[in-house]
Amino acid sequence: SWTPDIFVESTVASLKEKLGDDKVVLGLSGGVDSSVAAVLIHQAIGSNLHCIFVDNGLLRKNEFEDVLDSYKHMGLNVKGVDAKDKFYTALKGLTDPEAKRKAIGKVFIDVFDEEAHKIQDVKWLGQGTIYPDVIESVSVNGPSVTIKSHHNVGGLPDYMKLQVVEPLNTLFKDEVRLVGKTLEIDQSILGRHPFPGPGLGIRILGDITPEKVHILQEVDYIFINSLKKAGLYDDVWQAGAMLLPIQSVGVMGDERTYERVVSLRAVTSVDGMTADWCHLPYEFLADVSNEIINTVKGVNRVVYDISSKPPATIEWE
Ligand code: XMP
Repeated sequence: SWTPDIFVESTVASLKEKLGDDKVVLGLSGGVDSSVAAVLIHQAIGSNLHCIFVDNGLLRKNEFEDVLDSYKHMGLNVKGVDAKDKFYTALKGLTDPEAKRKAIGKVFIDVFDEEAHKIQDVKWLGQGTIYPDVIESVSVNGPSVTIKSHHNVGGLPDYMKLQVVEPLNTLFKDEVRLVGKTLEIDQSILGRHPFPGPGLGIRILGDITPEKVHILQEVDYIFINSLKKAGLYDDVWQAGAMLLPIQSVGVMGDERTYERVVSLRAVTSVDGMTADWCHLPYEFLADVSNEIINTVKGVNRVVYDISSKPPATIEWE
C-alpha cells in the first residue's frame, strides 16, 4: 500500500535517473504543491534545481520575505524576483476580473521567461501539478504555478518548450501534505490556506493601485493573524478579505467620514468546488472588526460574507 516514505524514496530515485546532471527551473509560489515538488526534486539533483519566486505585488503582507526566507532555510537554490512595478503597470486602469487575470498571467510568464533564460542550459520545467489538476481543466488549488489558461496567446513562451517534470501528478492534496511532512517541510507552508495565483488582484474589486493593495494587506493580516491566535486557522479551509469598490459614511468624534468597506470571507470546504461560510464566533468577529477599523486607515466598515458556494464563489471576482 501507498506510504509517503516509500513514495519519497522511489520518486527521488527515479528523478535522479531521469534528470541526471540536467538543470531544472521551477516557479515557487509559497503554496503546498510547488514547495513539495521543489523539495523532492532538490533531494534528487541539489542545486541543479533553480527555483524562481516572483513578487507580483499582490501577495499578503510580508509574504514574499517570509516565504523566501523559509525556502532558503530549506536549502533550496531560490531566486526572489521583485516584479511588483511590472504587474502594477500592466494592471493600471483594468477593472474587468478576467482582464486582470490575463494581465497578471501574462506578466508572470514574461518575468518567468526572462529569469529562466538567465539559467544556462536549462532542460526541464518542474511543476507542482497534482492529480486533480491533471483530471480537471481548472485548478482550484490556486497558487501552484501550473500554467493552464495562458495557452491562448500566440505560441508558447520559451520555457514552456522545456520538457516537463511533475513528480506529484499522481497524488491528491492530502497525500502531498503527507509527503511534505516526510520531507520535514515546515507546517507554516504545509498547512497554508489555498491562495489564488492572481492573489489580492482578484480581491480588490475594480482597479488595482498600490495604495489599495496596502490597505487590503493590512486588513488580511489582522484577520488571518486573529484566526491563528484564536486557534481557528486550521478549522477554516480558506479565509481572506475583499476590498469593495464603494465607500460608506461613518462618524469619528464629531467628524463625518466617507471611507472604504471590506468584506471578510472564511469558508469550510473539501476541495473548493463547494463551500460553506464559516460560523465564526460573534465575539471573534467583533474583535477583528474593531481592530481593523481602529488600525487600518481608510476603512470604516467591515462586513462578513455569509454566502455559500454555490452560487457564491469563494473569491468575489
Ligand atoms: P472560486 O472563487 O472559484 O475559487 O470559488 C475556488 C478556489 O480557486 C481559487 N481561485 C483561483 N486560483 N487562479 C488561481 O490560481 C484564479 O484565477 C483563481 N480564482 C479562484 C480560490 O482562491 C479558491 O481556492
